[in-house]
Amino acid sequence: MTESFLPYCRPDLGPDEIEEVVETLRSGWLATGPRCKQFEERFREYVGASHAVAVSSCTAGMHLALAAAGVGPGDEVITTPLTFCATVNVIIHRGATPVLADICLDDYNLDPQEVERRITPRTRALMPVHYAGQPCRMDELLDIARRHKLLVIEDAAHAVGARYRDRPIGSLGDATVFSFYVTKNMTTGQGGMLTTEDGDLAAQARQLSLHGMSHDAWRRYEARGSWYYEVTAPGFNYAMTDVQAALGLNQLSRLEGFQELRARYAVEYQRLLEDVEEVILPSARPEVRHVWHLYPVRLRSELLTIGRDEFIEALRERGIGTSVHFIPIHYHPYYRECFGFRKGDFPRCEQVFEGLLSLPLYPLMSMDDLARVAEAVREIVSTHRR
Ligand SMILES: Cc1ncc(COP(=O)(O)O)c(C=O)c1O
Repeated sequence: MTESFLPYCRPDLGPDEIEEVVETLRSGWLATGPRCKQFEERFREYVGASHAVAVSSCTAGMHLALAAAGVGPGDEVITTPLTFCATVNVIIHRGATPVLADICLDDYNLDPQEVERRITPRTRALMPVHYAGQPCRMDELLDIARRHKLLVIEDAAHAVGARYRDRPIGSLGDATVFSFYVTKNMTTGQGGMLTTEDGDLAAQARQLSLHGMSHDAWRRYEARGSWYYEVTAPGFNYAMTDVQAALGLNQLSRLEGFQELRARYAVEYQRLLEDVEEVILPSARPEVRHVWHLYPVRLRSELLTIGRDEFIEALRERGIGTSVHFIPIHYHPYYRECFGFRKGDFPRCEQVFEGLLSLPLYPLMSMDDLARVAEAVREIVSTHRR
């Protein structure tokens, strides 16, 4: 077999992105500047939020959101064990304590009932993660937050363009943070965006993203700029650059086209694989717009003679890249040692993780690529049926 390797993901960067980056380089304004402003404005409109702050990554944005909201030592923040380590790391960087709550089996998102069970007098915030691009049960989570006076800071790394009951993700919680990392539905290489309805939180986050300097400090290199600034809090260097924003502006204008392809490919995978009993396919709840950042399938290990790890190897041998989202937080040594998590604490998350792998799904794939992946899955299943 001489078919080329199908990578797990690949960004779609067209000539417009390349031209815009070159133009930005020629403009001489490489750091935070006019293109960042323009990108913030367009993104803000896209998600229907009042404020948007462009940042260097989703991780940076989540750190800023927690800092700007005043989350700190003594506070507990509830999130999911099925997430990337960054969600939990930013809580720890604030000196707060991450508390995990188990997931639902239909969408792998936080289970609101489990969240409510974990609330203590110290709970300060909820950090829902819209896993794979499918919004969490936000009505329930926002209701819990309202009743217990908690902040809702959403990790929307996977969920740009997603909607919950026809409301865009980015306009629901106290703050929402998106990722434009290279694997995401739109990319700036690395980068992120924080959106919020709260003008004070936005201003505070912006200032903290620029070392804590008085807020339009980046303008000090403009013709009318002033050299003078004041530092009002110890901040970070978390702002986006104009080179990243140049990519972001173009990717944002293509995003709806990307989303249509992702949705079409999810339907096609469903059609190609729905009769394979050994594989549980992901599904979208009716009240959401799922943006299919990932296509996470689960193997039913009781029906197969091989496990997930061997299945991934078998796909690799057939030239197909995959990934696993995610190794549960409570499996990692650091969090176990510091917070006393143990295997067995979150049974649904563990059950899901055991057979979990993400198949490739991205706009640069063709229908033939999808058919090739599905064929490989069917072949491996049929060779290893119990
Ligand atoms: C759920 C989740 N949260 C946060 C992040 C971090 O995003 P970034 O790389 O933009 O910091 C990622 C991954 O990239 C993620 O998958």
